Amino acid sequence: MIKYLGSKRRLVPVLTRLCEAADARTALDLFTGTTRVAQAFKATGARVTAVDSARYSEVFAQTYVATDARDVDLAELSAVIDDLNARPGAPGYFTETFCEQSRFFQPANGARVDAIRDAIEREHAGTPYHAILLTSLIEAADRVDSTTGVQMAYVKEWAPRSFLPLTLRVPELLAGTGRAVRGDALDVVSRLSECDLAYLDPPYNQHRYFTNYHVWETLVAWDAPEHYGVACKRVDARDDTTKSVFNQRRLMPDALRRVIESVCARVVVVSYNDESWVSADELRDMCSVHGDVEVLSFDSRRYVGAQIGIHNPRGERVGTVSHVRNREFVVVAGARAEVRRLVDATQEVAVGA
Ligand SMILES: C[S@@+](CC[C@H](N)C(=O)[O-])C[C@H]1O[C@@H](n2cnc3c(N)ncnc32)[C@H](O)[C@@H]1O
Repeated sequence: MIKYLGSKRRLVPVLTRLCEAADARTALDLFTGTTRVAQAFKATGARVTAVDSARYSEVFAQTYVATDARDVDLAELSAVIDDLNARPGAPGYFTETFCEQSRFFQPANGARVDAIRDAIEREHAGTPYHAILLTSLIEAADRVDSTTGVQMAYVKEWAPRSFLPLTLRVPELLAGTGRAVRGDALDVVSRLSECDLAYLDPPYNQHRYFTNYHVWETLVAWDAPEHYGVACKRVDARDDTTKSVFNQRRLMPDALRRVIESVCARVVVVSYNDESWVSADELRDMCSVHGDVEVLSFDSRRYVGAQIGIHNPRGERVGTVSHVRNREFVVVAGARAEVRRLVDATQEVAVGA
């Protein structure tokens, strides 16, 4: 899975336990990102709907949530991936933009991304392999990037991993079916049917996913957009249509309230942390429309960029880190007896540091 700001890797055991204890046959992951939580829900046997506004996230959800591993010929898929891995590099837009005008990847890897991405479009568009191969390519590129985990900047000296050759792997597909939906959570939520458990993990602050992961947006769109700035961001990053209300301080609390109110589920679970624009009490109040509310709290390490320090777009250190740990909260709402039972069920679950 890719490096991702706000990824809930450490909370997956707790969220999985909640899903199992709720005996959820249907689950919703409304801001699915990497889909790691949706995958964990799917692995419990639930039929999952994964929603996100990002193009790459939809591709991940098509691969890991919507695709049923039992329908895929793994030997054939593996042969297709071997064939893509064998393609010689052919420098194009990706190499010029992300390896020469900026330095997110080594040019030799960029040229292979160009060749492989073109081949995926030419040879696999419209087939069930399309999303799976794009996922494999994004994950391969992520393993050899030269960033601290976001694409607003690249590091000053090439990261050691960037010298490794780009290598696609067969994604670990899961048995079962689900749905991938790309859209604004606020629009999508009212169109979804009721589910047993809904998980909401919205952005907490001003950090926009569209710009933080603009290279993945472009790799999926494959539209060679005009770009600007040292990080070569897509010009449409300036459009209001690519801006999320959840990244706007003034609008976020009301948007969060509306999305929580609109979600139709027996149990509603919301993640947030102490860097969020809403307080624990406000969130508790928002969730109370679904019944009783309990808040689980976990100490956590901040994202890697915060660990390493604050850098300008040239990768130079320009500030100091105020703190390296924060608190993650998981709010559970629903009928009183069920919420109590679910919270009790998480007591023995270990959460990573
Ligand atoms: C905190 S991250 C979710 C991380 C995810 N739980 C994981 O573990 O990978 C928030 C996600 O919300 C998505 N997002 C931002 N605004 C959105 C909106 N208005 N509607 C739907 N998704 C949105 C972002 O693309 C991002 O993937």
